[in-house]
Amino acid sequence: MRRPLVVGNWKMHGSSAENRERVAAIAAGASECHGVDIAICPPAVYLQAVGAQLAGSGVALGAQNLCEQTRAGAFTGELLGAMLADVGCRYVIVGHSERRTLYGEDDSRVAEKFAAAAQFGLQPVLCIGETLAERDAGTTEAVLARQLDAVLRRTGVAAFGDAVIAYEPVWSIGTGRNAAPEQVQSAHAFIRGRLARLDATIANQIALLYGGSVKPNNAAALFDCADVDGGLIGGASLHAGDFLAIARAAATAS
Ligand code: PGA
Repeated sequence: MRRPLVVGNWKMHGSSAENRERVAAIAAGASECHGVDIAICPPAVYLQAVGAQLAGSGVALGAQNLCEQTRAGAFTGELLGAMLADVGCRYVIVGHSERRTLYGEDDSRVAEKFAAAAQFGLQPVLCIGETLAERDAGTTEAVLARQLDAVLRRTGVAAFGDAVIAYEPVWSIGTGRNAAPEQVQSAHAFIRGRLARLDATIANQIALLYGGSVKPNNAAALFDCADVDGGLIGGASLHAGDFLAIARAAATAS
């Protein structure tokens, strides 16, 4: 049985005061979400403060991005994986579609970032997913395969033993239009099957999250899919009550 995981991606939202309130509510409510792992990914500038406030709560800390470099150096504005580990991050999101489309991260850079995360003992949360045009063209599986294979070629399948994959159809992110459970299950089964060709144990154990307009009212139906092990939550993670309701749905999913 895979343990469900719910990750909050705050994106570029929050302030010290807002975070304090939200983290206090999440930390207090997390104890009622038995059997589910919970993580939150605040903007990097708040990682230490949020991490300090989470201490002892059981809620893990994650970063939203990292530099692909594996040594300190002259990379103004970048964050080395070792630094994220140093301030208490357990997870790091890699290859989010906003990074891919707005900041030009291509498959090979995403693969380098995944490798760097693994090198520093961070668990990468690798995001993959198709655009609406790609879905309409019937190329969803080809896109998922391309994005996944780029990382597999770089790191080998063993690195996925300590990783998480988030299937995030680009058209469902922040749009209020979640993918239908059948679409999600089909994509997740494809991803798990592709990994299974290389390593059946890792494929069976890896947490596959769904992300894209997950809300308290659709979480249960999505998490009930056989190959869905939790969610990567954007907008709804900014409301502690909604985020906790989603975590409880993951805890009780069949
Ligand atoms: P959303 O974002 O829940 O606001 O759609 C998900 C994500 O981008 O990870």
